[in-house]
Amino acid sequence: MASQVFTYILLFHFHLYIIHAHQFKSIHKIPSPLKFLNQLSGVQKGDNVKYVSDLKKYLSYLGYLIYNTNSNEQRSEKDNIFDSSVELALKKYQKFYNLNITGTLDANTMVKMQEPRCGMPDFYRPDKSAVFPFHMISYYSFFPGHPKWRKKKLKYAFNRNMKEELKPPLEHALSEWASATPFRFSRVSNLSQADIKISFFRGYHGDGQPFGSKDAGLAHTFAPPDGRVHFDAAQKWSSKGEKDAYDVQTVGLHELGHALGLGHTRILKAVMYPIVHEGERKGLHEDDINGIKALYKF
Ligand SMILES: *[C@@H]1O[C@H](CO)[C@@H](O)[C@H](O)[C@H]1NC(C)=O
Ligand SMILES: *[C@@H]1O[C@H](CO)[C@@H](O)[C@H](O)[C@H]1NC(C)=O
Ligand SMILES: [Zn+2]
Ligand SMILES: [Zn+2]
Repeated sequence: MASQVFTYILLFHFHLYIIHAHQFKSIHKIPSPLKFLNQLSGVQKGDNVKYVSDLKKYLSYLGYLIYNTNSNEQRSEKDNIFDSSVELALKKYQKFYNLNITGTLDANTMVKMQEPRCGMPDFYRPDKSAVFPFHMISYYSFFPGHPKWRKKKLKYAFNRNMKEELKPPLEHALSEWASATPFRFSRVSNLSQADIKISFFRGYHGDGQPFGSKDAGLAHTFAPPDGRVHFDAAQKWSSKGEKDAYDVQTVGLHELGHALGLGHTRILKAVMYPIVHEGERKGLHEDDINGIKALYKF
C-alpha cells in the first residue's frame, strides 16, 4: 500500500514535469527511496535507533545480511539494534563498493546507498560466519547453482504496449552480447513463446517485486531459464543518450547479462556493476566477457 502511494506520487510528479517542463526543470527528479538513511547518520554498533530495521531490510535484500522480515517474532525491540551482524554486513557492503571499511554508516556509504541501482541483490548467500570476508571474490559472479541456458539460439519478445523507441537500443544490447558469445537472438511476437521476455511495468506487476518500493531498483531480471526482464516504466529512460535519463541500452546490457546467468561484479567499469547514473553509457568490459566465458566454457 505504501509502495503504491509512493508510485502514484512519482507518477504525479512525472506528469507535472511533462506539463511544466520548461518552468520546473528538476521536478521530475525521483526522490530517494532510502529516506530512512537520513535518520541514521553516524549510528554505530550498540546503538538502538528507530529505522535501523529499515537498514537491516535493505542490507538483507541485497544479500549482505540474514534478516527474516516476515516472522512476527522479529517485531521486537531488537529490530532497531545496530548489532555486530549489521556492522559486518556494512563492512561487506563497503568492501564490495571500494569504500573505507568502517562498519558504520559514514557519509560516503550513505551516498553510495542512495545511488540508482539494479534491483538484483549483490550476493545470494549471506555469510553466516562472523569472519569478515577479506578474500571476497572481486570480479564477476553467477546466480546460486550457476543456472544457464542449454541452447545457443534464444528467442526474445517485447511486451505489448512498450514504447517503440526503446526497442532498437535493447536490440543493440542483444547484438552486443551476441558479438561476444555464441548466442544468437531472434525476435518473436508472442511473449509466452520467447526465452527472454522484456517488459516495462509500474509498481506492482505480479512477481512480488513491485517497482517504486525502497529496494526495487530500476530494473530486475529472472535467472535462466526464466528470462523475464523487467524495467521500471516510471523512471525516465533514454534511447538517444539524453543526459537526464537512464540509458536503456546500458541498463538493458546489464539486465540481459543477468538473463544469460551473470550476477553483479565489483568492477566499476564493467556493465555488471550494480550502480548506474543518468546519462551513463557502458559497453561490455573484459570482466563481463570473462564472466560469460567462465559460465558457458567457450
Ligand atoms: C577514506 O578515508 C579517507 C581518510 O579519512 C578519505 O580521505 C577518503 O575520501 C575516504 N574514501 C572513501 C572512498 O570513502
Ligand atoms: C501465444 O503463445 C501461447 C503459448 O504458446 C498461446 O497459448 C497463445 O494463444 C499465443 N497468443 C497469441 C496472441 O498468438
Ligand atoms: Zn543487476
Ligand atoms: Zn518484475
